[in-house]
Amino acid sequence: MSTLIEIVPGREPSSTMEHHAQVARERRKSRLLRLWIATGIFFMVLPGTILGFSSLLLISAHHGLQAVSPAWIQAHGHSQVFGWIGSFVLGIGFYSQPRTRANQGRLPVMCWGLWTTGLVLHWLAGACLWQWRVTLPLSGLLELVAILLFLYAASQHKLPQGSGAMRTKPRIEPWMQAVLVSNAALFLAIAFNFAIGLHLAIQGFTPAIPHDFDQKYLVLLGWGFLAPLVWGFSARWLPIFLGVKPVRGRLLQIAVALDVLGVILGMSHQTILMAPFLAVGAILASVAIRVFSVPDRPAKTIGIHASFPVFLRAAYAWSIVASLLGVWASMADVHGGIWGGSRHALTVGFAAMMVMTAGPRILPHFAGVRGLYSPRLMFATLVLLFAGCTLRVSVEPLAYEGIVPFAWKVLPLSGCLELGAVLLFALQLILTFAREPSIFPEADRFRPGSAPVLNPSCAGGMGTSGYGVSALPQPKHDAEPLRQP
Ligand code: HEM
Repeated sequence: MSTLIEIVPGREPSSTMEHHAQVARERRKSRLLRLWIATGIFFMVLPGTILGFSSLLLISAHHGLQAVSPAWIQAHGHSQVFGWIGSFVLGIGFYSQPRTRANQGRLPVMCWGLWTTGLVLHWLAGACLWQWRVTLPLSGLLELVAILLFLYAASQHKLPQGSGAMRTKPRIEPWMQAVLVSNAALFLAIAFNFAIGLHLAIQGFTPAIPHDFDQKYLVLLGWGFLAPLVWGFSARWLPIFLGVKPVRGRLLQIAVALDVLGVILGMSHQTILMAPFLAVGAILASVAIRVFSVPDRPAKTIGIHASFPVFLRAAYAWSIVASLLGVWASMADVHGGIWGGSRHALTVGFAAMMVMTAGPRILPHFAGVRGLYSPRLMFATLVLLFAGCTLRVSVEPLAYEGIVPFAWKVLPLSGCLELGAVLLFALQLILTFAREPSIFPEADRFRPGSAPVLNPSCAGGMGTSGYGVSALPQPKHDAEPLRQP
C-alpha cells in the first residue's frame, strides 16, 4: 500500500494550502478510524463479553449448554466476531485505502452507520428477541450493504502497473492474498447471515441458527475469516516486530490453500477430513511467518511492554492448539466441550490475543496519537487473557464432556479473568486516545521549509528526519517508530 503523506525537508508539498488540505484529510481519516475502534470496543465489552460471560455462568451453574438459548450464544459470537474484530478490520481497511473518489465522500461514514445499526439490531433480535422477525433480516441486510460499500471502496484502488512494453500484471503479495481470502470469507459469512436471517424470519420459530448449519458457519468465521486475516497481517508485520527473517511466501500460500480446503470440507460436513487440513495449515502458517524462529535482531518493543514477542508467539501457539483440539473434537466430541475448547483457543487465544498484543503497537499510530497509555497495563491485560484462556480451554472439554465434574466450578473463574482482560484492554485504548495529544494540531503548525516539529512516525517507521502519516506503510527493518515514553 502506498504512503499517503510524506512531509520531509527537501520533499515538501508544492504549497501551504495543499499541505493543509492533506493534513485535514489525514485528520478526517484518523477520526473515522477512532470511530470504528470505539464501535469495536463497545461491541467487545457490552454485547460481546457480557453475553459471553453471563452464558458461561449459566452453563456452569446448570452443567450444560442447554441452560442458555442458542440465539443468546450466537448473539455473543456475532458481537465479538463482527462487532469487535469486524469493526476493527473495516476501520483499518478504510484507513489504509489510498485516496480515491469512493472513500473521500460520505461513503465511509454511511458504511459505519449501516454496519453499526445492523449490529445493534442483531443484538436486539438475538439477545432480547425484540421484533426479531423484522430486526433479524433487517440487521443482516444492513450489514451486507455495509460490506458491499467497503468492498466497492477497496476495489477503486488499482495496484500500480508497469508501463509500455514492460507492462506487467500487478503482483499481489502472499500476505495480501491471505487478507483477500479473509475478506472473501467475511463477505460470504455476512451474505449467509442475511440469507439465514431472512429464512428464519419467514419460516423459523426462533432467531437461532439451527445447530448443524451453525457449526459449519463457525468454521467459516473462525478458519475462513479470522485465521487468514491474522496470518495476512502477521506476514506483513511480525518478521519486523519479532526481528526474524522475512516471511516464506510460498509456504504461506500453501498454508492458506490448505486452510481454504479445510473450510470447504468443513462446510460440506466432512469434519473428520477438515480437521487435519486446518491443523497442517495452522502449523505451516507459523513456520512461514517464522514466529518461532530465532531472531536476528532485537524485537521492536519501544513504547510497549517488553513481553510483546512472548505474547505474539503465545497467540500462534494457541492457533496450533485450536487446530489440534479440532482433530480431537472431530473424533471424540459428544457434548460440544472439545469443539468449544478448540473454538475458544482460536477466537480468544489466537485472534483476541493477537489484537490485544499487536493493537497497542499499531493502533495509536494509525489513530494519530503519540503512544500507548501504559505498557504495564498492556502486560496485565495479556497475563489475564492468557491465564483465562488457558483455564477455559483446559477445563471446558473436561466439564462439558463429563470427564471431571469439578471442572464446572473452575469455568466461571476463567470467564472472570477474561472479562478482566477485556475491560483492561478497553481502558487502555480509551486512555490512550483520550490522554495523548493528537499529532494533528502540531501538524497544522508545520510549514513547508521550516524545521520539522514532529517525529511521531507511523507503525512502519519513517526515520527521524521528518514526519509521515501513512497507510499501512512499507515496514522498515531498522526503524523503531515509537518514542520511549
Ligand atoms: C470474554 C471472554 C469470553 C467469554 C466468557 C465467552 C464465552 C462463550 C460461551 C460461554 C460460549 C458458548 C459456547 C461454549 O461454551 O463454547 C461462547 C461461544 C462463542 N464465542 Fe465466546 N466468549 C468470550 C470471548 C469471545 C471472543 C473474543 C470471541 C471472538 C472473537 C468469541 C466468539 C465466540 C463464538 C463465535 C462462539 C460460538 C457462537 C455460536 O455457537 O454460534 N468469544 N463464548
